[in-house]
Amino acid sequence: MTSSSPSSRFGRLLILPDPNAATAAAARLIAQTIRNDARAVLGLATGRTMEGVYARLAAMHRDEALSFSGVTTFNLDEYVGLSASDPNSYHHYMRTHLFDPVDADPARVHLPDGAAADPGAECAAYERAIRAAGGIALQLLGIGDTGHIGFNEPPSAFDTRTRVVELDEATRRQNAPMFGGDPEAVPREAITMGVGTILESKRLLLLATGPAKAAILAAALEGPVTPEVSASAIRLHPDVTVVLDTDAAAALSPAFTARATVAD
Ligand code: GLP
Repeated sequence: MTSSSPSSRFGRLLILPDPNAATAAAARLIAQTIRNDARAVLGLATGRTMEGVYARLAAMHRDEALSFSGVTTFNLDEYVGLSASDPNSYHHYMRTHLFDPVDADPARVHLPDGAAADPGAECAAYERAIRAAGGIALQLLGIGDTGHIGFNEPPSAFDTRTRVVELDEATRRQNAPMFGGDPEAVPREAITMGVGTILESKRLLLLATGPAKAAILAAALEGPVTPEVSASAIRLHPDVTVVLDTDAAAALSPAFTARATVAD
C-alpha cells in the first residue's frame, strides 16, 4: 500500500480492487463521520452505486450499533413530478435503502419535494434548510454519464444553487432501467442541489465503480475544470476523497493514480 502525498490535488484518492471494497470504504468514511459527531449533517446521493454503501451502513446499524437518530441528511436531488410515495422517487429509494433499515429520524431527513406546487419556492426553502442545519459536513457524490454530480447537467456553472434542471437525454437513458427500460418514462426535469451548494459542503466524498464510469472520471479528474463536466468542480474543493474501484480508475493516467492509496 502506498500513500498519497498530502499536497496532491485531492485529500485522498483511494483505488480498491472491486465495487464491494470501494462501497465498503465509502461506508466506513460515512460511519466515521457519524461516530465523530452523532449530530452530523450528511449530504446523500442516489443511484445504483450507492445501494452497496447503504447496505453496509444498515449492517453497521444492525451489528455495530451505528445510530442515525441524531443525524441530519440532505439528498442531492429528486425528479420533478414524482411524489414521495412514487416507487421511482428518490424519497422511496432512500426509505428503502437507508432510512427504514436504520433508526433515521424522519424529522431530520430532507429531500427536495419533486411534487411541490411551486418548485422555485421549494428550491429556495431547501437552500435555507441546509444553512439552518449549519451546512453539510460530508457530501456523498456519484457521477453520471454526462459527468453530472447531483443532476447538474452540462453546462452547470460552479455557482449554481438548488434549482430545477432539464435532464440530459444521456441521463434519461442511463436511468431508464429504473423506469421499465424506457428513457421516455424518465421524468424530463429534476430538482438538484447546485454545484455551488455542493462545493460549500465541508468535505466531499465521490464514489464511482465499474468500467462504464472510467472515461467520464478521467475527464472529470484530469480534463479541464469546466461547467461542461460538473464533477470536475470537485477539484476546486480543499477536502475531497475520491473512492474508485480499479475498473472505474482504468482510464486515469499512471501519473495521476501514482498519488493514490491502492489497497489490495
Ligand atoms: C443519478 C443521480 C446521481 C448519480 C447517478 C449515478 O443520475 N442523480 O447523483 O451520481 O445517478 O448513478 P449510478 O450509480 O446508477 O451509476
